[in-house]
Amino acid sequence: MKKLLALAALVMVSAGVQAQAFPGDKPITIVVPFPPGPTDRVTRDLAESLKKALPGSNFVVENVSGAGGTIGATRVAKAKPDGYTLLVFHIGMAATPALYRKLQYKPLEDFEFLGMINDVPMTLVGKPQFAANTYRDFENYIRANSGALNIAHAGLGSASHICGLLWQSQIKSKEAMTTIPFGGTGPAMMALMGGQVDVMCDQTTNTTAQIESGRVKAFAVTTAKPLSTHPVLKHYPSLQDMGLKGFDLTIWHGLYAPKGTPPAITKVLNEALKKSLKDPEFIKKNEGLGALVVTDKRVEPEEHKKFVAAEMIKIKAAVDAGGKYAD
Ligand code: MLT
Repeated sequence: MKKLLALAALVMVSAGVQAQAFPGDKPITIVVPFPPGPTDRVTRDLAESLKKALPGSNFVVENVSGAGGTIGATRVAKAKPDGYTLLVFHIGMAATPALYRKLQYKPLEDFEFLGMINDVPMTLVGKPQFAANTYRDFENYIRANSGALNIAHAGLGSASHICGLLWQSQIKSKEAMTTIPFGGTGPAMMALMGGQVDVMCDQTTNTTAQIESGRVKAFAVTTAKPLSTHPVLKHYPSLQDMGLKGFDLTIWHGLYAPKGTPPAITKVLNEALKKSLKDPEFIKKNEGLGALVVTDKRVEPEEHKKFVAAEMIKIKAAVDAGGKYAD
């Protein structure tokens, strides 16, 4: 009995020591499963804020792109669970298990959930020379010419892919548009501004500046209500107001660590995240791009996990109904 108590005391002391020593001066890598673009933007802004929340810490952002974000997520699922390799991923964490049947990770089993970050609305945008200026004209043009038009996305299971699928399934155009996959919506946006692709549904964190500068045309937002307080996005209707019943899509982002990362360390990271979600600078950067940092119970790891589990069930039902898979 004495030995057991001594052992328990030892474990607790070492856990305490671990937490105190973490992160020390070793850099923490945050993997972004896309190239520079909307998720990269959220992650770099968060890294800046986490540095303030954890004095003396150093965060580096690494882009590991491809296959709708699954390559970067796999990298972190298989990384050493020591708190020095993290992942920022979005709705793709819930969508990819439904689309990729040979996925190398199971979200609910291979990751520690560290809390949610933000909710990002999406916008339907078109190339600058697109032959329409209002959503109504845009939708009518798509209906009449869908077979000859294309839509860009960031890979199967990506936010832009999911949005494009949901929108097209509701407008019921005669023929499906040709889909053009990219590694992320950062490079897709370059092609859209250049007129190489016609349409894209993308996060406001990547579209707001291009809409404001007139380098792309915007037609609608995907939130249930228009973004009436945003200086740029307030000018566009919601798809629901345009008759797409129940259309309400925002892209949530969360922070993750490999399964088995010590609880003492995940606690330090969750507390740092919570501080960042109260950081006025981080909040301002998000709001400037039409996004909202999370302020509800989803900042708690167990609630974050419950939320993703519910999203997985919802998305799997939709994917199985469509019967189209990535592999
Ligand atoms: C990105 O960062 O490129 C996006 O999140 C891609 C997407 O999911 O549409």
